[in-house]
Amino acid sequence: MTMTSEEFVAALDAENHERLARLALKSAAGDAAETLTVPKLLRLALRNELEASELAAAWMTDTPELDAKLALARQCGDEAKHYRWIEDRLHALGDSLEGFDPAAPEPSPLLGYLRGLRGTVERAAAGQFTREAIAVVRNDVFADFCEESGDLETATLYRERIQPDETHHHELGRRLLLRYATTPEAQAAARAAAARTLEGAEEIQELARLRAGVSRAPGC
Ligand SMILES: [Fe+2]
Ligand SMILES: [Fe+2]
Repeated sequence: MTMTSEEFVAALDAENHERLARLALKSAAGDAAETLTVPKLLRLALRNELEASELAAAWMTDTPELDAKLALARQCGDEAKHYRWIEDRLHALGDSLEGFDPAAPEPSPLLGYLRGLRGTVERAAAGQFTREAIAVVRNDVFADFCEESGDLETATLYRERIQPDETHHHELGRRLLLRYATTPEAQAAARAAAARTLEGAEEIQELARLRAGVSRAPGC
């Protein structure tokens, strides 16, 4: 059965929505460990912002469609800007970040998977429509945690400055899918890439919780 791109995007949105709600519950599950602090989680955010920026840059160079290419360029710059904002916030909180390498010890498995995607529709589905929706959900959980911890300034940074950009990146993905996810083949590839991205995010979250007691970490 052939779906229009509008029908397809609505269906993908609904599918993602269910899994994102689960991810949010898992991200906020249990009591936060006493060792879990806002600066510690902001260091993880730096890693995520850097990966998001690098991914957009890598994809931009060999994405042929001009609208997709420019959307990636805009995202690349936004994520770099977020990196600097978060770095400033960490400095204000007393973390000098001396010796900190946001890329250590190696790229996340999810970045490895995403970098391997070739098609514009898959990239828009996984990297923007889904990864950025994950970021919005996780940042929201993190901003709640900041408020509970009494750090209203970090909560405001996320809610008022970072989240509007992440929502915009998600919407860029939606626009590209509406334009290009027009065949059953493209739609199947987009759906698979979105599902794999959500699985990857869940795995990373579970591992972080089990290995290091980390939950409530922001996205990108
Ligand atoms: Fe983003
Ligand atoms: Fe970001």
